[in-house]
Amino acid sequence: MSCSMNLKNISYKKNNNYLFKNINLNLGHKEKMAIIGQNGVGKSTLIKIIAGLEEPTNGEITLFHNQIKNKKDFEKYRDEIGYLPQDVSNFFLCITVIEDIMFSLLTLGVDKKEAYSKSVNILKILNIIHLENRVIYELSGGEQKIVALAAILVKEPKILLLDEPTNALDEESEKKVLSILNSIEKSMIIVSHHKSFIQKLVSKIYKLEDKTLKNEPIYTHFYTQHSVVHGL
Ligand SMILES: Nc1ncnc2c1ncn2[C@@H]1O[C@H](COP(=O)(O)OP(=O)(O)OP(=O)(O)O)[C@@H](O)[C@H]1O
Ligand SMILES: [Mg+2]
Repeated sequence: MSCSMNLKNISYKKNNNYLFKNINLNLGHKEKMAIIGQNGVGKSTLIKIIAGLEEPTNGEITLFHNQIKNKKDFEKYRDEIGYLPQDVSNFFLCITVIEDIMFSLLTLGVDKKEAYSKSVNILKILNIIHLENRVIYELSGGEQKIVALAAILVKEPKILLLDEPTNALDEESEKKVLSILNSIEKSMIIVSHHKSFIQKLVSKIYKLEDKTLKNEPIYTHFYTQHSVVHGL
């Protein structure tokens, strides 16, 4: 499997304390993985480092086989990485849903007609076409999250970094997002607390714990439930 992204000995220090130390991670081409872990262990910080929004204290990042030395190097790959922040309240740049989604395409040089049709299409796919002309800041938290996801997916980035993509979503929207992410053949890192969601989506789960990433057996949750059901 060719490599989309590689982290080598990534450490991050905050207020003289290491949040994590010597993290190594390899994300293969079209590979889907999840990062779990308790509140405050640094999952969002790690994702921001991979997205080029935070600089690690130490370590090397490689994107598409090219070493990234600074934020400027990241700029070359900005459009290849779709980053969904945990908190999307500062994510949007336009007033209405359709304007914001189209904007992300217009900045890529897509013409207005095509940008509109692609934007409408992604809204339909995500079952949120009824939000097309709504003012974003009047939307609910869950609606904003799924609109932000639409704005990312419409650009078809090569790597998706999704920080708690379902944390504000109802069951139906969660199912929709799951089926869409399952149908997309791209490299993905999903940070989530929803184990049942990620187990239906990824091939690897890592747990950020004790300042490092540990392999998490993927079917732990399933076997636990199974055992309970059968009284094993
Ligand atoms: N801008 C900041 N300034 C100061 N401390 C911060 C900042 N951002 C994060 N932290 C701290 O760094 C630690 C890790 O935060 P982070 O958001 O990465 O955790 P997380 O694993 O994503 O948690 P959660 O599951 O709650 O989202 C926390 O203790 C947090 O308080
Ligand atoms: Mg977080």
